[in-house]
Amino acid sequence: MRGLYIHVPFCIQKCLYCNFFSVQYNDILADKYIYALLKHAVKFKDKKIDSVYIGGGTPSVLSLRQLQKLLQSLYKIFDLSRVLEFTFELNPESVSKEKLHFLKEIGVNRLSVGLQSVDDMSLKFLGRIHDFKTFCDVYDIARKESFDNINIDLMYGLPGQKLEDWEQIIKKILIFNSEHLSLYPLSVEEDTQFYRSNVIVCDDVQRNMYDRATEILTSKGYIHYEISNWSKQNRESFHNTNYWRNFEYIGLGAGSAGYLERKRYKNVEDVSRYIGLLKNGCNAEIENEYINDRIYSVETIILGLRLLDEGLDVSCFKKPEHYNILLRCLKDKTLKIKDGKIKLAKKYVFVFNQIASKFT
Ligand SMILES: C[S@@+](CC[C@H](N)C(=O)[O-])C[C@H]1O[C@@H](n2cnc3c(N)ncnc32)[C@H](O)[C@@H]1O
Ligand code: SF4
Repeated sequence: MRGLYIHVPFCIQKCLYCNFFSVQYNDILADKYIYALLKHAVKFKDKKIDSVYIGGGTPSVLSLRQLQKLLQSLYKIFDLSRVLEFTFELNPESVSKEKLHFLKEIGVNRLSVGLQSVDDMSLKFLGRIHDFKTFCDVYDIARKESFDNINIDLMYGLPGQKLEDWEQIIKKILIFNSEHLSLYPLSVEEDTQFYRSNVIVCDDVQRNMYDRATEILTSKGYIHYEISNWSKQNRESFHNTNYWRNFEYIGLGAGSAGYLERKRYKNVEDVSRYIGLLKNGCNAEIENEYINDRIYSVETIILGLRLLDEGLDVSCFKKPEHYNILLRCLKDKTLKIKDGKIKLAKKYVFVFNQIASKFT
């Protein structure tokens, strides 16, 4: 199984909490970027691909013409006939019926919408440029365009947010009956406006919110299949699950990473340099790391434990040092054996990083 990730590093405006790689959208720059990215894609044209994910940044900020150029060319470069899941990320403010219609027509079969909050005051606080009504309209159009696999991204644990507020937010979200939900605790990252203005979040409150979300969503039939992800049955994100299974993926676009034939690479995190390098026929992959057996085993364990239901085969712990840690984790019950697989005990999901670090 192999995925294709395409990074569209353009946003209309930087959100106050975000430190993902993105720059301000500009029509001319985006044209040049798409041209460069397609040149990069040709390098991988013979690779078999099972899933595609176009993420950002804000892929929906591209104009209809740019979307047509990017996606139609991808279909010409790659054989996408066996792709099972094709996801496209949307920000509500930059979606139109025409764009959604085109995406559906060309083969996108999953949407991921960055809602973040259902209340306009919180959206303003986060520096988002859409309101809840705009999201509702976009969601409605997407359903009318027959998208039957939609994810909604939400953040929780905003300063001042109470558990009761969060419960109301979840109840409001359930009305949409989306196939998938990604819920993230707000984290204050360096190089963000929130960091500079010393925004504070509370771990304990976030933990309670996480537990409550799990309870409510599970009672409504959602499967908590990954630490931050819930889905209806058979609606897990196939593309992302393959990352957690430590399978291969091609990464195209500035700042994105790829993992092929035991080599992990990162593309230059600079839009103009990315364009320049590809224009001159140079390599945009600036960081390369060979994943030896030891790193491979550690990564397989750490990624695989995130898959709460799928878990890991005991054979993944065959290195003596990992087997010993496994025994200790089974003894202190942070890990468990269920259905013949090693899984993270649900009680410890929120402190996953501490458990994972034992294997590094
Ligand atoms: C990089 S964003 C890209 C998606 C899209 N541009 C958007 O803004 O909706 C992916 C998701 O990561 C989450 N995210 C980004 N920064 C975060 C932070 N500092 N704390 C918590 N979640 C964050 C948001 O939920 C966001 O939808
Ligand atoms: S959260 Fe999304 S829209 Fe906001 S700056 Fe980050 S990538 Fe752009």
